[in-house]
Amino acid sequence: MTATTPHIDNLLHESRRFPPSDAFAESAVATSDLYERAAADREGFWAAQANALHWHTPFTRVLDWSNPPFARWFDDGELNVAYNCLDRHVEAGLGDRIAVHWEGEPGDSRSISYAELTAEVKKAANLLTALGVGQGDRVAIYLPLIPEAIISMLAVARIGAIHSVVFGGFSAESLRARIDDADAKLVITADGGYRKGRAFPLKPTVDAALAPDADGATTNVEHVLVVERTKGEVQWHEGRDLWWHDEIAVASAEHVAKPFPAENPLFILYTSGTTGKPKGILHTSGGYLTQAAFTHKNVFDLHPESDVYWSTADVGWITGHSYVVYGPLANGATEVIYEGTPDTPHPGRWWEIVQKYRVSILYAAPTAIRTFMKLGRQIPQQFDLSSLRLLGSVGEPINPEAWVWYREVIGGGLTPVVDTWWQTETGAIMISALPGVTTLKPGSAQVPVPGIELDVVDERFRSTPADEGGLLVITQPWPSMLRGIWGDPERFKETYWSTFGPTTYFAGDGARRDKDGDIWLLGRVDDVMNVSGHRLSTAEIESSLVSHPMVAEAAVVGASDETTGQAVVAFVITKASHADAAAAEDAAATLRAHVAQQIGAIARPRQVFIVNELPKTRSGKIMRRLLRDVAEGREIGDTTTLADTHVMSIIATTVR
Ligand code: WT7
Repeated sequence: MTATTPHIDNLLHESRRFPPSDAFAESAVATSDLYERAAADREGFWAAQANALHWHTPFTRVLDWSNPPFARWFDDGELNVAYNCLDRHVEAGLGDRIAVHWEGEPGDSRSISYAELTAEVKKAANLLTALGVGQGDRVAIYLPLIPEAIISMLAVARIGAIHSVVFGGFSAESLRARIDDADAKLVITADGGYRKGRAFPLKPTVDAALAPDADGATTNVEHVLVVERTKGEVQWHEGRDLWWHDEIAVASAEHVAKPFPAENPLFILYTSGTTGKPKGILHTSGGYLTQAAFTHKNVFDLHPESDVYWSTADVGWITGHSYVVYGPLANGATEVIYEGTPDTPHPGRWWEIVQKYRVSILYAAPTAIRTFMKLGRQIPQQFDLSSLRLLGSVGEPINPEAWVWYREVIGGGLTPVVDTWWQTETGAIMISALPGVTTLKPGSAQVPVPGIELDVVDERFRSTPADEGGLLVITQPWPSMLRGIWGDPERFKETYWSTFGPTTYFAGDGARRDKDGDIWLLGRVDDVMNVSGHRLSTAEIESSLVSHPMVAEAAVVGASDETTGQAVVAFVITKASHADAAAAEDAAATLRAHVAQQIGAIARPRQVFIVNELPKTRSGKIMRRLLRDVAEGREIGDTTTLADTHVMSIIATTVR
């Protein structure tokens, strides 16, 4: 697409449409009547989806919204989340089906059937119980992406306890803050894991996190369970530390899953707010599992008997909870998980994995897709990707150019691409096309999934007219909605339910609906710029920049400007093939003109800086705040959450 089609490719002018093929539509899981059924009786619709799960005690109430914003779903029902993900598939005769194909970064692998996974989780559940963990207790999980991560999460769920998974890239300090906030009594970790061709240690970080702090304060962690992965050297705290393999070896594989109330907490997952300490987003059981399973099946068109599904997310993020663990396993899917980085030991590693396991559904982030675009299509083209039949995107707006590249180069020009909008807080997908039903529009997340009610409004809560930007709000409670911020109900109300009153969820994203009613996400509202009174989206200008053949990746910030309020400042990585083609100054001038020509003079960046890297968090999000610091000539702020903390000093030097 890059070299061949000089498309006008930005969010305003995107006009390509991809209707579902007849063949796909014919056997699609989703059907258009889902929308009608949900519109006719929203609660009845969700009750029907919930009843696809196994309930030890059936619910009679669907939704209690008498005390907003505190919702209760299916609250007189009882279920066991792990039973739903494991035992019931085995009892249905599917025990031999592979649940997880695990691929370690060094090339080791392990395929685990539903029967085996169920047995492992039963042993782990017995082990946790023996260690004194019971219903409602918090367990911190700090693991690489190895099968024990999934086993641990399901074992915690099975006994009605609450997990708090902390991404393995977080520091000791971050881990300690999360352990303290949740008051965890057990930590599950590993000696280390593999990334970028090296073993990285985890256990020393846990030791540091649990050490008395500057004031001598300690945690209430009683035990640390350590999985052996890298066989790296570890310090041992007698009485506290236990080897996973020693303990599991003596644990019984008999364990009967007990029912827990639908609103029993399932997990806490920390996510950064705009300021201050991370928020512990709380999710519960019945509603969460209902929406995770429903969306996983319908948005990814899952045919569990034949598909091989791969979400590249780590379990440290919400995608790893809903679309690596709970959604796929509740649906009896066969899935792939991969421990390492996409470029180890070679840049085709992902595509090699797709080929090896004949992956049919791939769910990845736009940042990864753009990285592959930058490397060029010759890399994926070395592998057989013909098994792929559906592609998904999540985490940030996917610019049309990347969307089309994904479909053309990875999907062989045939696969639907679903762009899924949701958040840690929403628990499951909220906006997405339904493959086989929706005519796809590159760059738009399109429509709320059946059963979800939302709107795009202005500051005074009036629906915005077509093609005008506004704020995305969710106007009705949904089953997988967050139930609170752990330990801080006031912050919960204040952050999400105060802008437009206690029954309207304010997502923090800007959005625009087009004349067809399709939704275009415009980035976090703090990334929406106002230039001379005109509303401009960072995503829109980035998309325009990326559509230029010279550009591999772009980040745009609104920097304060004396004359115009804000001004557009762009940071651009050029493609390797264009690196020397033009001097940086010429490139900047060309790109300023390009944006002005595509979107309008108002959007012309004040400055375009050609850089080698962009500052990204470990989850791949560009930290625009830091770029804004550079653009505004300020001291660069806190860089501790960056994947690579050196990036900013390099950028600052380039810009000066
Ligand atoms: C924020 C939530 C959802 C799992 C991963 C991120 C942005 C997410 C999209 C999308 C445009 C998106 C939003 C949202 N976002 N998906 N398809 N299109 N923006 O979860 O870390 O909680 O971040 O990610 O800004 O608010 P998260």
